[in-house]
Amino acid sequence: MSESADGVALATQGLAKRYGPRVALDGLDLRVPTGVVYGFLGPNGAGKTTTMRILTGLIRPDAGRVEVLGRPFGRGDRRRLFEVGALIESPSFYPFLSGRENLRALAATGAPTSRSRVDELLSLVNLQDRAGDKVSGYSLGMKQRLGIAGALLSDPRLLLLDEPANGLDPAGIAGMRDTLRALAAAGKTVFVSSHILWEVQQLADVVGIVAQGRLVREGPIEDLLRAEGTVRVRVAPDQVPTAGPALEAVAGAGAVTVEHGPEAGWLDVRIDPERAAELNRSLAGAGVYASRIEVGTTLEALFLELTGTSPDLGGAAGSAASGGAAPDGPRWQA
Ligand SMILES: Nc1ncnc2c1ncn2[C@@H]1O[C@H](COP(=O)(O)OP(=O)(O)OP(=O)(O)O)[C@@H](O)[C@H]1O
Ligand SMILES: [Mg+2]
Repeated sequence: MSESADGVALATQGLAKRYGPRVALDGLDLRVPTGVVYGFLGPNGAGKTTTMRILTGLIRPDAGRVEVLGRPFGRGDRRRLFEVGALIESPSFYPFLSGRENLRALAATGAPTSRSRVDELLSLVNLQDRAGDKVSGYSLGMKQRLGIAGALLSDPRLLLLDEPANGLDPAGIAGMRDTLRALAAAGKTVFVSSHILWEVQQLADVVGIVAQGRLVREGPIEDLLRAEGTVRVRVAPDQVPTAGPALEAVAGAGAVTVEHGPEAGWLDVRIDPERAAELNRSLAGAGVYASRIEVGTTLEALFLELTGTSPDLGGAAGSAASGGAAPDGPRWQA
């Protein structure tokens, strides 16, 4: 893993971990470039939290190597974690202390930080108005935001966040996205696991998708989405029966999926987006005029294809392919 000197913030090689007979990680290789937001995706039980526990020295792998910020990371290196901020699973705080007091207590156990740093971070996560209240009275999302502030205390170069959107409302998610994007823009590396795919699609530069403890795909999100080409066509709903065969005549049998419900009139075609004009010509030949044509794919469709699992629902395969997923977010990228 000598590439680390030139721009790899975090790398694992052959990472393996079992819990008794259960294999949690089965030779995981990750490569996280410096200065990006990396979305670490996988269905429930894929091994995301296990990976993050290893990366923060909470547990030891059975085999494999980890390299953090250009150097091998082992169990004796926990002191180096001052360079790494982490939020793994639910953050724990003293409920009887305020948010501000909790951050100060946390600051006292880590790398030296200034008093103003605590207030700066409370503002960053939009808790300044509640900073003096006891944490026992915080909502789940407020605790999560306090946890993110805690992870940022030592101004780490690498930030590891396990499902940080847990419990956040849409405004909280948007705020977190802005914060994490700003950190990456400032040259820091943000490694974030999530199930909320449309959120990752907006947030991450690079994604790694894991299934059953192995990496199934990794790369810049735009490249992945382009490679898994789809063209999406909109016609008048009563023209769908004519449009379907006209599109399949170009793309092949079985390549067209008709969307239903509120998306009526949209057809998904699995084809190289470069061939969109051919589809359009075939439609016109059948007397159908598309009102919109979009190219691309969703991360959700890719996730489903690679892991055989629908995100969030854990096994309700098909919702993404039929276009029914993520109703509350932009789920299509042109
Ligand atoms: N402490 C443990 N003891 C036994 N098995 C465990 C333990 N922790 C994790 N596992 C198992 O290891 C596998 C990976 O779990 P892990 O928590 O890493 O998945 P995950 O990707 O974080 O899932 P989720 O999306 O549900 O958070 C699962 O099969 C899980 O049951
Ligand atoms: Mg987990």
